[in-house]
Amino acid sequence: MAKRILVTSALPYANGSIHLGHLVEYIQTDIWVRAQKMFGHEVHYVCADDTHGTPVMLKAEQENISPVQLIKRVHEEHSQDFDNFSIRFDNYYTTNSPENRQLCEEIFSSLSDAGLIDEKEVEQFYDPIKQMFLPDRYVKGTCPKCNAPDQYGDSCEVCGATYSTTELIAPYSTVSGAKPDRKTSSHLFFKLSDERCENYLREFTQNTDRLQPEAANKMKEWLGEIGEAKLSDWDISRDAPYFGFPIPGTNETKFFYVWLDAPVGYFGSFLNYLTSDQSLNLANLTQDFLRPGGETELIHFIGKDILYFHALFWPAMLKFSGFRTPTKIFAHGFLTVNGQKMSKSRGTFITARSFLESGLEPEWLRYYYAAKLNDSMEDIDLNLADFMARVNSDLVGKYINIASRSANFLTKKFDGKLSSVSMTDDEIVQYFYSCSKNVADAFESRQYSKGIREIMSLADRANSYIDKQRPWELAKSESDSEKLHEVCSIAINLFKILTVYLKPVLPTLASKVEEFLDVDSLQWSDSKKCLPMAHVIKPYKHLMGRIDPKLIDKLISLNTQKPIQSKTQSNKPNSKKMTAEKTTVESTTDITIDAFNNVDLRVGRIIEAEHVEGADKLVRLKIDLGDKQRQVFAGIKSAYDPKDLKEKLVVVVANLKPRKMRFGESQGMVLAASSEDSGIFLISPESGAAPGMRVK
Ligand code: 2FM
Ligand code: ZN
Repeated sequence: MAKRILVTSALPYANGSIHLGHLVEYIQTDIWVRAQKMFGHEVHYVCADDTHGTPVMLKAEQENISPVQLIKRVHEEHSQDFDNFSIRFDNYYTTNSPENRQLCEEIFSSLSDAGLIDEKEVEQFYDPIKQMFLPDRYVKGTCPKCNAPDQYGDSCEVCGATYSTTELIAPYSTVSGAKPDRKTSSHLFFKLSDERCENYLREFTQNTDRLQPEAANKMKEWLGEIGEAKLSDWDISRDAPYFGFPIPGTNETKFFYVWLDAPVGYFGSFLNYLTSDQSLNLANLTQDFLRPGGETELIHFIGKDILYFHALFWPAMLKFSGFRTPTKIFAHGFLTVNGQKMSKSRGTFITARSFLESGLEPEWLRYYYAAKLNDSMEDIDLNLADFMARVNSDLVGKYINIASRSANFLTKKFDGKLSSVSMTDDEIVQYFYSCSKNVADAFESRQYSKGIREIMSLADRANSYIDKQRPWELAKSESDSEKLHEVCSIAINLFKILTVYLKPVLPTLASKVEEFLDVDSLQWSDSKKCLPMAHVIKPYKHLMGRIDPKLIDKLISLNTQKPIQSKTQSNKPNSKKMTAEKTTVESTTDITIDAFNNVDLRVGRIIEAEHVEGADKLVRLKIDLGDKQRQVFAGIKSAYDPKDLKEKLVVVVANLKPRKMRFGESQGMVLAASSEDSGIFLISPESGAAPGMRVK
């Protein structure tokens, strides 16, 4: 029976570009949706820009435009990027919409009626110049433990200490540079701690196939044991100024927190889609897909970092406001590039746009991601050398090769007409039919890598068949003409079946093949059918080329960050100047050469490097300094994978007073360059320098 499914991908923020990390999710979802549609199910795939919140408001202000102008521009960019990568949403909308606002108001009022909204006083930092409350990420200051400047409110990147924002020494607002005040304000909370919510969420998250096993375990941890009351109430309001929807009854002084209206945006986009397509029955579909009790499914594809919102807050909001709840939540891992976190300095923070500009084809990336993806929450790696090798050998060397080896004989010798003998009973054709279910199951269960392995082993079989039949020999003698006709017709039929299997992954290529084979849009059922006997195909034209290594070089260079210019001070009378001063050389105090000589800088070689359990930013290093070894905890985890650090030469402050940390003693410091938006760069001596050498 045909299923009826509403599918979503997470809504990208409207303050940045789509990059290859985002595309893992959109490509994963798009492949799934396309496969479901080919199987004959009714699927509606919607998404939108996530437009509200402080970052969008501040970015618009920086650009001297209104938030509405900013989100309009970004919406166009995002839509174009998705289109280029063949992400075919049925609707791509915005959370800043009348539909979304109305839904948020309805949900809020139902939750209030159910007694699930509470009001509490909250004390927060307040920027007296900007006259706004500051989310923690906009407050920095000096670490109370090691005195490192410019640290965020929750932990120190230098010494790894964790503390609360109120403990920061000399806190300043990163928005204006001003010293923030503490101020209280009343906020609205969704009472997740209410036992109705807790009981419901236990049932929701432990339903066996709603979440992946790893995700269900995480939920158990978050919910705790019965009676432990681990869930806290959730603050769903923010004070003005805020770019978002005003909360009814608060006189525009309070707004819904962006994370409240973002998931509601899934439904807002769906409603907008129903009203914009006349062929859809608005009332029926709204009831069927958004209200409880129907037979339809709601499936969310998300990254593992936002499970908390999707598996706890969102279902509880829906459950107690009269809406349907999610059927399944599919979480995926993050993308690494060449084994490391994407990095602007290494040129691996790759935007969708630059991928295209470099001349690489989006379907190469779709194929590579498919070849790597499975149903787990593990991270996936885009290794650029492997990417090139895999696309060239699988897609061009195996799959396309089948058509290019057989089509020309059909065109030249038989005017493009396939044999009039039925191929259906042929052994290899039967075998290709028989794999249809396995490949379909792999798509259904999101084990795309397994599906691709199966498809490529079929491509190997087709090529071995051609090798064995040697059509180029058959073509030499008139008496073998019939056999040649049969062999090439079989090969083209195998190619067609493989095209059906690859179509969810490679829709653009599949449509070129449909044109070449002169057939209608291929459906899954075509994987168990041959082309009609004596069907005429068109002459073979180039379908897909190989990746030239130069394109990869170009990609990296397009994404490599230019050296950061030292920030010039703004002459506007606003306080951005104060932030700039923190990074300019002029602001540091002069020291004497003696003071400098007191710092014992030495060349060190990293001999061990490992993650530190429980520390978000630290890597533990063991460093050889020639005559001694030192253990150093360095706050470089965001930029370096420990496994790439071994044998690296670094510069160490060797006479820094040892410091006891939560994780052990840190006996020195490695030097690194950094600035607010560039990442971290270890300082490394030229090769030839040896451990223990003095640096002056
Ligand atoms: O994490 C993010 O990028 C969010 N913009 C995702 C929102 S998904 C949904 F809840 F709207
Ligand atoms: Zn510190």
